[in-house]
Amino acid sequence: RSERIWLMIGGASLVVFFAIILLMALVWGFHNPGQMKTIAPDAVRTTPPFDKPGLYQVGPNEYRAVMIAQMFMYQPNNVTVPAGSTVHFEVTSPDVVHGFEIPGTNVNLMVVPGHITEYTATFRNKMDRVIVCNEYCGSGHQVMLGRFVVQ
Ligand code: CUA
Repeated sequence: RSERIWLMIGGASLVVFFAIILLMALVWGFHNPGQMKTIAPDAVRTTPPFDKPGLYQVGPNEYRAVMIAQMFMYQPNNVTVPAGSTVHFEVTSPDVVHGFEIPGTNVNLMVVPGHITEYTATFRNKMDRVIVCNEYCGSGHQVMLGRFVVQ
């Protein structure tokens, strides 16, 4: 008979335990509407939008640059937009931490596997720049380059 009571107490504490976890998840969710987006490194190449990296026009003078930073290249490795464009960068890595810097602009991102790094910038002036990796990522780090053109 006392066993049944203990079972009930055990069951009730489990219910309370899960209720607390659920409550914490809800509170956390409500207070972090802009929480960081995640993506499994193994799934980068098969998960939209990274299954089709590239530059997509999403409005007048507005683009979305879906990019993968990997050992030791960027994909796509050349992004060209017209002057006056706003570009929403979305970058992730399937391997290790990389950098994503367009010198002379505000674009200087850290690309961490497991996360999607997002940044929006508007480019008013024409430029032809090298996208550089500024996080040491292995033997090919110094040749990990892309090209960014505003024309
Ligand atoms: Cu990628 Cu250094």
